[in-house]
Amino acid sequence: KQIAVFASGNGSNAENLITYFNNSKIAQVGLVLTNNPDAGVIQRAKRLNVPVCVFSKKELQNSTKVEEALKSHQIDWIVLAGFLLLFPQKIIQSFPNKIINIHPALLPKYGGKGMYGMRVHKTVAENKETETGITIHFVNENYDEGKIIFQSKTDVKRNDTPEDIAAKIHQLEYKWFPKVIEEQIKIEGFQ
Ligand code: GRF
Repeated sequence: KQIAVFASGNGSNAENLITYFNNSKIAQVGLVLTNNPDAGVIQRAKRLNVPVCVFSKKELQNSTKVEEALKSHQIDWIVLAGFLLLFPQKIIQSFPNKIINIHPALLPKYGGKGMYGMRVHKTVAENKETETGITIHFVNENYDEGKIIFQSKTDVKRNDTPEDIAAKIHQLEYKWFPKVIEEQIKIEGFQ
């Protein structure tokens, strides 16, 4: 199976997924797509010999360019790894229950438009939460509201900075995201 990874920034999760699936018999990352021409994920994909498609917000909204790229790379599954734009309806409809997102908090808390990256960890710290974590979920037409597939928790200590929290969250993401995706692809293969 072919996976397309969408990212808007650094792309450390995207890199982790490419590397993991390079050694998987089930699927591989065949394409990386981003809306940000300066995203770190572009260099990572190039270094790992994965084709890259850069699109603008407008191109995503009319979706033809993105849909063409997905089709020409025979993409079966879409993974959002730090992708910050709302995903267009049209593409969601062509990939029913085949689009998976990771959110760096325990949804439904700390989700929704504008809640991403360090902003999430700052709010968790400000609210003196004693735990946080990751949520891996299917994507539907609203931010962070699709069916939850998996969650993993970590403690938050009183003197944890947002950066400390981000580091713990990234560890959970790198550990769990590829495995959870691979499991979903296996399950779907039997439906
Ligand atoms: C990750 O924390 C992910 O949970 C969130 O955005 C961040 C992306 O980081 N959606 P990176 O670009 O994969 O390093």
